[in-house]
Amino acid sequence: MPRVLVVDPLSPDESAIREAVRVLRAGGLVALPTETVYGLGARALDERALARVFAAKGRPLNHPLIAHVADATQAARLAAHWPKRASDLAHAFWPGPLTIVVRRRPDLPAAISGGADSIALRVPSHLVALAVIAGLGEAVAAPSANRYQGLSPTTAQHVVKELGDRVDLVLDAGPCDAGIESTVVDARQAPLRVLRPGAIRLSALRAVVADTEDTAESVAEGAPRVSPGLDARHYAPRARLVVADTWAHAQRIAHGIASEGGRVAIVTHERPPATETPDTVLLQPMPADPAAYARALYGTLHRLDDTGLSAIVVVRVPNDDAWWAVSDRLRRASSDPGTK
Ligand code: TXA
Ligand code: MG
Repeated sequence: MPRVLVVDPLSPDESAIREAVRVLRAGGLVALPTETVYGLGARALDERALARVFAAKGRPLNHPLIAHVADATQAARLAAHWPKRASDLAHAFWPGPLTIVVRRRPDLPAAISGGADSIALRVPSHLVALAVIAGLGEAVAAPSANRYQGLSPTTAQHVVKELGDRVDLVLDAGPCDAGIESTVVDARQAPLRVLRPGAIRLSALRAVVADTEDTAESVAEGAPRVSPGLDARHYAPRARLVVADTWAHAQRIAHGIASEGGRVAIVTHERPPATETPDTVLLQPMPADPAAYARALYGTLHRLDDTGLSAIVVVRVPNDDAWWAVSDRLRRASSDPGTK
């Protein structure tokens, strides 16, 4: 068990922040809350600490990390070039769940960018994350605090369950607000390219940078890889996850699995019709509001996964702006992208 310190999310206790900063300075790993998901924090400029992050996650070394900074000025200092579109986006969305990829300063540790010449930067809005960054006085590298390709953690308990002693200290500030990761954009050229849908919507990006291309969709359909977070299988529970078109479709799939002796859950934001569902099929209602659904999603999948189900059948969510990130994650979490 790692050490866990409970922190007030609205008024972070100074002693806990001091301890987190001490661990980071010593090259350690601190799991910390952000407004999206919990991150696995390390000093971004410390090669050895970064190596520990990759090892703790079991993450391939060519998968770059996000550097979390205090403000746009600190972000621009880590960039070789800070284009106007980056500064417009920073102005509109920081602090908040937008990650901006730009060219990196060549003297930064190569590990932060997985060997590439770019760097991903974000100013989180969570007061605990900001306090840790301010206390350290440097950028904090923080991928989601889960094992490679697994479900992101939205509570400190998820982090402990997933990483155990691989992390030195966990700051527990309760559940994350957005519950889904930041939107990642490549701001190096026009059009602005979305590398990962997330908590900032496509329409909001386009209101700031009209020339924005949603590349995530085409990549999911098999185009060349532009960002490791876009790998087809990612954000996945251990159980087989299947996305069903409708409630009736979900029921048919679930019955099929249950009749073969499997234990299965149906996750649905639609109110199920009053038809009978066999006892072997667990019904998991979800909020109909997309933001509330996103907040609940990973926690629900973590909980269902912990009960050792053989399959989770999720009723498809609308494919529109409000559901953009959720529908992306469900697609990537699904074990059989053909079953769509
Ligand atoms: O909400 C979030 O972004 C959370 C919290 C902790 O901030 N962090 C997070 O980090 O989700 P991670 O490492 O799990 O995902 C980072 C995403 C990956 O899809 C990665 O490929 C992409 O950002 N990324 C990072 N650096 C990049 C770069 N230099 N070029 C392209 N993509 C990059
Ligand atoms: Mg991740």
